Amino acid sequence: MKKYDVVVVHGDGIGREVCQAALDVIQAIPDVSSAFNFRDLPAGAGEYLKSGSVFPDETFEACKASDAVLHGATGIPEVTYADGTEVGIEFGLQMRFRLDLYANIRPIKLRPGITSRLRDRKPGDIDYVIVRENTEGLYAARGNGVILRDELAVDTLTMTRKGIERICRSAFELARSRNGAPSDGKRRVTCCDKANVLRSYAFFRKVFNEVGEEYPDIEKDYAYADAMTCHLIERPGFYDVIVTENMFGDIISDLAAVTVGSMGMSPSAELGERNGFFQAAHGSAPTIAGQNIANPYGSILSAASMLEWLGQRHRDERLGRAAAQIDRAVNAAMGSPKGLTRDLGGNASTSGIAELVIQNLPAALDEAAA
Ligand code: IPM
Ligand code: MG
Repeated sequence: MKKYDVVVVHGDGIGREVCQAALDVIQAIPDVSSAFNFRDLPAGAGEYLKSGSVFPDETFEACKASDAVLHGATGIPEVTYADGTEVGIEFGLQMRFRLDLYANIRPIKLRPGITSRLRDRKPGDIDYVIVRENTEGLYAARGNGVILRDELAVDTLTMTRKGIERICRSAFELARSRNGAPSDGKRRVTCCDKANVLRSYAFFRKVFNEVGEEYPDIEKDYAYADAMTCHLIERPGFYDVIVTENMFGDIISDLAAVTVGSMGMSPSAELGERNGFFQAAHGSAPTIAGQNIANPYGSILSAASMLEWLGQRHRDERLGRAAAQIDRAVNAAMGSPKGLTRDLGGNASTSGIAELVIQNLPAALDEAAA
């Protein structure tokens, strides 16, 4: 039976705690655990301080050759380059650029047991996916902007036809596999841009429309990124799949995560044609690191999406089943009074959540069999 090589990068801050929680959950499913070779490798700001390299070559080569990479979080805010930008996040950004992980898939789902910060929203009312372009846009300028004589600074926003086509196609394909928006059941892809202001975004929208013609069964919808921040508060149930440029995706996904609980609830899957990188979208939260209080649900759900992706790619049903099992066990854990960390209004610990999810795994499997 196939064995999967997974590189684990715990990283900085709460990275180690949340990543360990995700690993503990996977390892509690014997059938799946035995299918993996996990290899811990260093990267991030702590590693930079130690060895001078934020993303050592050995780690990069192993990530490139691996079946998937599981990551906690990286970044120490005070550790910056001379230009003021942060060092630790270089790891994730380089991973995206060098392995061409163009699709950043960020599900936003209000789950049982979670009280939305939006009034009167129940589980099931919010269920959409942000498809964030992950290699172009404004962030493609990372490390390549210009500072001139301490008087002028420029970062350019890049869009390519190839890049827009493939991210839009990912979004339409995803919409086809889903059941539509909660409020009206319609399959819909919303293009989130600022086509009214910049040519690059107008081009994004044009190519979105061209790709959309191949998907007559999916409704096309449009929102300017600024207005989108209102819509996601006022009518989140209208959204099914949202496709957007890199920086806009970064911004709206934080806003969206808070509407379904907190930043800790933000799983993500960063996918290319060959490689997959799985981490929660929150950062390294240094102020709460080492206290065993960080919310690990985002990491646990990212690990589940790793299993799902690998299962699909390798037609390995064990992994797909395990992903669904973890998803249900997470719902069960959240639904119990002990299943909420501080950010969600409870006082559970990081490791306590992992244990609770693990306790709920057997019932989650039975549910699948029923
Ligand atoms: C995210 C994060 C990253 C980003 C940082 C850590 C570089 O905020 O994945 O959303 O800005 O993309
Ligand atoms: Mg972000």
